[in-house]
Amino acid sequence: MKRLLLVAMLLCGVWSAQAIKIIHGPYLQAVSDTEATIIWVTDVDALSWVEVAPEDGKHFYYLDREKFYQTHFGKRVIGTLHQVRVTGLKPGTKYRYAIASKEVLEQKGHRISYGQIVSTNVYRKGAQTIPTLDPKKESIEFVVMNDVHAKIEKMEAYLTHCFDKNTTDMVIFNGDMVSSVPSEKIIFDGFLDTAVKHFASDVPFFYVRGNHETRGKCALKFSDYFPTTTGKPYYTFTHGNTFFIALDGGEDKPDSNIEYYETAAYDAYRKEEAEWLKKVVESEECKSAKRRIVLLHMPPVDGHKMWHGTKQIRELFIPILNKANISVMLCGHVHKYSFHDDQAAFPIVVNSFEDALKVKVDNGGVKVEVVGMDGAVKHTHSFK
Ligand SMILES: [Fe+2]
Repeated sequence: MKRLLLVAMLLCGVWSAQAIKIIHGPYLQAVSDTEATIIWVTDVDALSWVEVAPEDGKHFYYLDREKFYQTHFGKRVIGTLHQVRVTGLKPGTKYRYAIASKEVLEQKGHRISYGQIVSTNVYRKGAQTIPTLDPKKESIEFVVMNDVHAKIEKMEAYLTHCFDKNTTDMVIFNGDMVSSVPSEKIIFDGFLDTAVKHFASDVPFFYVRGNHETRGKCALKFSDYFPTTTGKPYYTFTHGNTFFIALDGGEDKPDSNIEYYETAAYDAYRKEEAEWLKKVVESEECKSAKRRIVLLHMPPVDGHKMWHGTKQIRELFIPILNKANISVMLCGHVHKYSFHDDQAAFPIVVNSFEDALKVKVDNGGVKVEVVGMDGAVKHTHSFK
């Protein structure tokens, strides 16, 4: 009788309730003009891959598609967090992709037993897309949000009023998307599942680490979830003839502050980053771009309210950036809007914690709109 019931359950697909599941993602990371990383999470260990197809009008199942796996020193990776780098893409081109994970039931010695496969539903829902960056694109649009602190309703409002799947090229998370990172769960509950729901499977986001993302037990795994092309939380990318420099300000208080429980070493880290930044502003990619935009969570604005982290950023980064013909620096952190044209050789826009920035860059310059949660445009700026 039990056996009959088991057969009936298998035939009816009831058993699939026990099968491996994709519980988060997929989302795009570290997108460049030729590569992209696809990330997702399964509920159990799996061997995973991404299948990629061009947008050529043919069905995804027309051909056996090229497969990409996550590898570590030549070995394919088994785990629950899947981070697959797709390479060999063309600039300014849209590709279709599907993800798949094969459950690992047991690893005994060198032997591995596999179970079921879970994948994105290309047949019914269609494939998801990788739009590679394009240094030659004449006009780009992006949305910047910061200091969301896991308040999903803010994200929903920003995306409703500022994000358009047809025209928005990318989203910038400019720090403090969560208040701390005690676990993987808070990353997904706090903002990432919402990003995936709206856009992140098909439109890239670039994450600028805020001081709050340095806190909590899972903070050391930041790069596992948000890899960059440099392997560090500071990096660059070019889109639409604009060179973006994403900087990491570290923590805001002195390293010795009791709040950090002897774990902060940001003074040395920021010095190391400044050495990298010196090379970046001298690079051909930076110099040859038509415009340069800097993304940084903590605003390096002088004043009696300046804290230690900001002070060091100001001392280390601003002299380097002053020589680089920067169009604008976009910041957050202080939860209040302000605009500064006397703090550096370039303007600084500080976004509040209840507005998003809608930015358009074209041949005319950089246009920044500060948009409230009700969709009202509160401030506008134009930069050359
Ligand atoms: Fe902050």
